[in-house]
Amino acid sequence: MLTPDNFILPLFVHDDPEAGGKDIPIASMPGCARLGLETGLPRAVAEAVAQGVHQVVLFPKTPEHLKTPTGEEAFNPDGLAQRAIRLLKQEFGGEVEVYTDVALDPYSSDGHDGIVRDDGVVLNDETVEFLCRQAVSQAEAGADVVSPSDMMDGRVGAIRAALDEAGHTEVSIMSYTAKYASAFYGPFRDALASAPRPGEEGRVIPPNKRTYQQDPANWREALREAEADEAEGADIMMVKPGMPYLDIIRLLRDNSSLPIAAYHVSGEYAMLKAAAQQGWLDERDCALEALLCMKRAGADLLLTYYATQAAQWLNDDGI
Ligand code: PBG
Repeated sequence: MLTPDNFILPLFVHDDPEAGGKDIPIASMPGCARLGLETGLPRAVAEAVAQGVHQVVLFPKTPEHLKTPTGEEAFNPDGLAQRAIRLLKQEFGGEVEVYTDVALDPYSSDGHDGIVRDDGVVLNDETVEFLCRQAVSQAEAGADVVSPSDMMDGRVGAIRAALDEAGHTEVSIMSYTAKYASAFYGPFRDALASAPRPGEEGRVIPPNKRTYQQDPANWREALREAEADEAEGADIMMVKPGMPYLDIIRLLRDNSSLPIAAYHVSGEYAMLKAAAQQGWLDERDCALEALLCMKRAGADLLLTYYATQAAQWLNDDGI
């Protein structure tokens, strides 16, 4: 059975002065917006809490002029993510668990989760150093759980060590363990303008993330990633996307005693919304069924843009 405490609500946040604090809608994700830092964000969190959703994950929309090939803005102590964390911890204290995204893509002028060398190679170890600095700066700002979504090798162990060394032994890690190189992330990349893009003359930028995200045809790699993440100290393991990868959720559930999360990603959300808007599907029943099926497959936690709405549907049913 689904309950509101299964849900983690992903939230996009912006601080664009031209928008005057207003929310900026995301065309490919009806019902979702980049939320104004001081207005829309706390409002959306209050609405979630009112329905019994106490976990959120933050995705900042970085202004273009702050993006660089190496994404240093990721660990700016006064960066948008860090300010959003501080604001939510101040307003909601222990009532809300704040998860963060650890990856360079929202800050990268190349649109990659890692640092791209001029010949197109994504540099694993150099990226991991930056991810550690990013995770520590999020922990300093008050994050409860840091979530590496970048898929570099060895980053969970390195982040655990960096957090511990900085005194953040109590901050947990939710690892994107089995994150596939999926086409279902399209609307998310619209929301953050974070898709891979061509570099300047002379630089080769890979047009996709297939060298570090997993091959959708490969299930055994998910097991190897899970073994590595457990050994490196992950507290929660995630499978992403959700519904097309139910077998992978089940695989990890049967091979680990850690909590398993599934991410019902932007493209899955957009499909349901689009069909519902046409009157072709019953949105409530289909969304709740999709979420229930991921839980049945073995997910304890569900990251979903439907979190507040789904919790409300459940609450209205008196569950
Ligand atoms: C990037 C990141 C992505 C998502 C979460 N973190 C996109 C990507 O890997 O390109 C996708 C989430 C969604 O589609 O809802 N670090």
